[in-house]
Amino acid sequence: MPNTFSKSVSKFVTHTLQLLTGKPTAEEVDMSGRNVIVTGACPNSIGYETAKILASWGATVVVTSIDSIELMESSLRRDLRIIGADEKKITAHILDLCDVDSVNNFTTWYRKNYNDRLHVLVNNAGIHKNILKPREKPPMTKDGFEIHWRTNFLGTFHLTSLLLPILKQSGLESGDARVVNLTSHLHDRVKNKSMFNDDGDYHSWDAYALSKLALIHLTFEIQRRFAKKYNLQSVALHPGSAKTNLTPIEEFEGKIGYLLNQICSTFTSLFLLRPIVGAQTSVMCASKYPLQGGSYYERCEVAKSSDDTKDQDVSKLLWDNSDAWVKTLVKTGRDRHE
Ligand SMILES: NC(=O)c1ccc[n+]([C@@H]2O[C@H](COP(=O)([O-])OP(=O)(O)OC[C@H]3O[C@@H](n4cnc5c(N)ncnc54)[C@H](OP(=O)(O)O)[C@@H]3O)[C@@H](O)[C@H]2O)c1
Repeated sequence: MPNTFSKSVSKFVTHTLQLLTGKPTAEEVDMSGRNVIVTGACPNSIGYETAKILASWGATVVVTSIDSIELMESSLRRDLRIIGADEKKITAHILDLCDVDSVNNFTTWYRKNYNDRLHVLVNNAGIHKNILKPREKPPMTKDGFEIHWRTNFLGTFHLTSLLLPILKQSGLESGDARVVNLTSHLHDRVKNKSMFNDDGDYHSWDAYALSKLALIHLTFEIQRRFAKKYNLQSVALHPGSAKTNLTPIEEFEGKIGYLLNQICSTFTSLFLLRPIVGAQTSVMCASKYPLQGGSYYERCEVAKSSDDTKDQDVSKLLWDNSDAWVKTLVKTGRDRHE
């Protein structure tokens, strides 16, 4: 208990410092010649700011949205124009991590249009449903999974595994490729065993935390498998608590709901980081050279992830299970990549 209390105090203090100072910030790095994918970069999000900064530093950036790429691309290009950067550095494309065909189509399109070169994959897209109604279970995905697990972990695993061949190739050619996974400090509210056994007691924060815990395992496993041989570094990070679109407005309905939305919006603006501040650790992990792969980052520096994330047997088991799932997609003819 005292340990939990001191952890909460420490999280509160670091958050307040970041909120008040906007620091730390990532130091500018020349990113020319680097191809980057940032998944999930809608306006007012951490991904949006991450993509914008990396493109303004010279990277060629592809951003993704489930269905609204026009607005995303035009806003990002306008922002780049305003700061005098090359707006053509950013292109948006459709990607729904929960849809096997969408992930296939995206990776096929990317490989064809970017000559099989990918230096940095920022797995930023993610959801956290029912934040204020955590006992209410959101609908399962159409292929029958809990939605946080399917989107934040399985979808990310699927995308990453399809892009691994070109990440490895680009790591060999350039000496430095990266997978940057957006996780959360909330991963420490759940234990490894809950990833394999559903106790039936649903809580959306736990579901979210499990998907992020799994993503940290994925991060460490990629590092163990591919860092030495392919120069492929893999890191996980917590961006800080930022005011983005993570809590959809439909959380509250009706007239009272409208009022609650207004109150919450004002409150969160005062107490949460701006997306650009939340993007700093992602930007740093995508750009700083050299980077300490196989690590978990917060506030632009290596931080301690939970003890459960260090269990290599669990990382391997998760990898094997998820890989076996991806192979079932190949068998059913829905995934045509080698
Ligand atoms: N904000 C925070 O305080 C906080 C704290 C810890 C961790 N994080 C993590 O940081 C990352 C970015 O979050 P954010 O706060 O910037 O959230 P956000 O504003 O809600 O942005 C999330 C992005 O993910 C995309 N996305 C959602 N479901 C998807 C799917 N099925 N397939 C593909 N893309 C999908 C969204 O796509 P559309 O553009 O199509 O809507 C959106 O662009 C997330 O992984 C989140 O878990 C955030």
